[in-house]
Amino acid sequence: MRTIVSMPGDGIGKVVLPEAIRLLDVAGFKAEYVHGDIGWEFWQKEGNALPQRTIELLEKHKIGLFGAITSKPKDDATRELATELQGKGFVYFSPIVGLRQHFDLDICIRPCQSFKGNPLNFIRKNANGGFEEPIVNTVIFRQNTEGMYGGVEWTNPPAQVREALETHPKMKNFAHVPSEELAISTRIVSKNATERIIKAAFEYAKTYGYKNVTICEKPNVLRETSGMYLKIAKQIAKEYPEIALWDTNIDAQMMWLTKNPEDYGVVVAENMFGDIISDGFAGLIGGLGFACSANIGKDVAVFEPTHGSAPKYENLKPSIVNPIAMFLSACMMLDHIGENEISTKIKNAIAKVIEEGKVRSYDMMKLRGGANAINQGAATTQQITDAVIANL
Ligand code: NAI
Ligand code: MG
Repeated sequence: MRTIVSMPGDGIGKVVLPEAIRLLDVAGFKAEYVHGDIGWEFWQKEGNALPQRTIELLEKHKIGLFGAITSKPKDDATRELATELQGKGFVYFSPIVGLRQHFDLDICIRPCQSFKGNPLNFIRKNANGGFEEPIVNTVIFRQNTEGMYGGVEWTNPPAQVREALETHPKMKNFAHVPSEELAISTRIVSKNATERIIKAAFEYAKTYGYKNVTICEKPNVLRETSGMYLKIAKQIAKEYPEIALWDTNIDAQMMWLTKNPEDYGVVVAENMFGDIISDGFAGLIGGLGFACSANIGKDVAVFEPTHGSAPKYENLKPSIVNPIAMFLSACMMLDHIGENEISTKIKNAIAKVIEEGKVRSYDMMKLRGGANAINQGAATTQQITDAVIANL
């Protein structure tokens, strides 16, 4: 039997993750779940939102299901730390970013696939003044550990950094700016990680029958980093003659995704561009209630909805948040470990519930969130799970 590390985290993570486990059980997935502590509570009590014991659980069991965590700005983090820990040098860092870095979960997969009958699906006016609803089936591969979010940055950079940068002729433009007035964030990409994400994207396209892989970067301006993506993609594409390699610029892609989203199969991008483009595509298929993801490393993999802890709804009983993003993330986990049959069964049941349209969460009904949504006909989180279970 499999052991899965279950990390609900904060806020609605504590609602949607248990619902996913309830669904997985009924769907016939045989597993044992061990609880992993993660999130704000552990920052407050222990000065560490990602306790070592949780890292050890993942080291041992390799597969994690994650809900969401709450992060707060620096001043709040300091203030909310237990009194006895204050002033002892504890620094808050996001535990999910911590997990991605610790286990080198460099491949982030974010499928954005529309369900038939979802009232949140993107629609487009056609030439006759009518509407059409393109079926979106795009899977974003986001490099998860380096690039713009690699964390190599400074305000008031030290002298050596400044001197090193001054070896570049373009730094002349900043020669008159005092270091105290400079902020620098780097975009460092490595050949190895770039090859891994692009290779993974092509492999995925091949496995699931996608006809194209798009590199979504900006090589005309970011000549070195985006340039490296494109160059490596051209080499790797030769191994996959049946799959077309496209390249688009991130800015133009944000426009095209509403003009012709149905054309894009697999899309690959560096960390920040992947973050942007995956939110863009997620908006076409229903937004945060539907956006699932996987973080995959060589050894360990963690599956999570892309939404956060939604503190607004944390204490709302019964809960009204949409658990489908969490369910779809659990399905990605099943696919990853070879339980494709159960995954397909769950996805089909979700599709049926959405298409029937009898049980809908507040976001699907385009209602304002809150206790009142239920009076207006929105289903509770539990009722959505029940409906999916009934359709298995
Ligand atoms: P959020 O994703 O938590 O919520 C934004 C809004 O989206 C919510 O107020 C709600 O209206 C809607 N929403 C989110 N999930 C939903 C669901 N399952 N069903 C229906 N509606 C849903 O993002 P926000 O408000 O920016 O951040 C809240 C906290 O979450 C912050 O502390 C932030 O740092 C953290 N966060 C954590 C993430 C993670 O754990 N991976 C990702 C994003 C934010
Ligand atoms: Mg994001």
